[in-house]
Amino acid sequence: MTPDGGHTPVMLDEVLGHLGPRDGAIYIDATFGAGGYTRGILDAAACTVWAIDRDPDAVSGGQALASAYGGRLTVLAGRFGEMDGLLASHGIERADGVVLDLGVSSMQLDVPARGFSFRFDGPLDMRMEQEGPCAADIVNTASEHDLSTIIRRFGEERHARRVARAIVRARAEAPIETTGALAEIVRAAIPRGRPDRNRPDRNRIDPATRTFQALRIATNDELDEIDRGLAAAEALLAPGGILVVVSFHSLEDKRVKDFLKTRSGGAPRPSRYLPAGDAGAAAPTFDLLTRRPDRPGEDEVARNPRARSARLRAGRRTKAPTWTHAAMAAGGGA
Ligand SMILES: C[S@@+](CC[C@H](N)C(=O)[O-])C[C@H]1O[C@@H](n2cnc3c(N)ncnc32)[C@H](O)[C@@H]1O
Repeated sequence: MTPDGGHTPVMLDEVLGHLGPRDGAIYIDATFGAGGYTRGILDAAACTVWAIDRDPDAVSGGQALASAYGGRLTVLAGRFGEMDGLLASHGIERADGVVLDLGVSSMQLDVPARGFSFRFDGPLDMRMEQEGPCAADIVNTASEHDLSTIIRRFGEERHARRVARAIVRARAEAPIETTGALAEIVRAAIPRGRPDRNRPDRNRIDPATRTFQALRIATNDELDEIDRGLAAAEALLAPGGILVVVSFHSLEDKRVKDFLKTRSGGAPRPSRYLPAGDAGAAAPTFDLLTRRPDRPGEDEVARNPRARSARLRAGRRTKAPTWTHAAMAAGGGA
């Protein structure tokens, strides 16, 4: 958090280092948030930024910044999974860089009414877009089996079945409507293990953390959105254009790592993909710029503890055609 309650950008120097903003270039900040990356890019060169956020509060908050940069910045509402189409509708078909800073912003986490955090009591909402089904809808209507799957898969919670059972038992008494009520149910359901001397981090984690992460990911379809966002970036980037992605937990990072590995020729191509217009060998669409993820320095983590789990991966777009679904390449749709 910044002193004014905003969001402190994570690994900004490293992001700018990979991106290397140039005069006259076009960059996409696909997760605008409080505009920390956007500001850094615009201040580094006489370039243009198209920023996107699916949260209407972030988009309205960005309009003052757009005015301040007089025509060099446009902030659009939308999902990064659809950024190629969204930008095409504004006449932008090519970009020199795309940055993605995954997950939620401090503004989203720290406003109790948004319902993202168990640290405050608030409605069990968690919707970035502020419309559509919310976390309470999932918690109060999903089957015990589906809840358990969500909590295990998206929260990596080994007590997922216990937690799901406790939720179903509690909601039979009364619907679970608040973050506080859910956090209490989860804490009571998880057995207190012995402190692990080798994993002091684990001992400090609130037992509700993993279930809240799972519900947030499910509510916003976050992991599939990452896959769509990476493919959209591949379609938008000009040859030589740079993709930079900062992620905050292993599930996010795995999607990014697998995408860059596959697209840079380091892993077998999934059979359902073909290069657009060519059923032959798929040429790599990215050169890897980070064999291992970049991590924040100790200074940054001391200044901003939220940076602790950040991992940055980057790639440079080659000239090869965008990979696409075989069915779509054949004109059949997915
Ligand atoms: C970690 S914050 C970004 C912070 C930003 N880099 C800064 O310096 O202020 C992530 C932002 O991405 C947005 N977001 C998450 N998933 C998105 C998606 N699929 N499409 C568009 N925006 C998304 C969230 O609403 C949030 O505002």
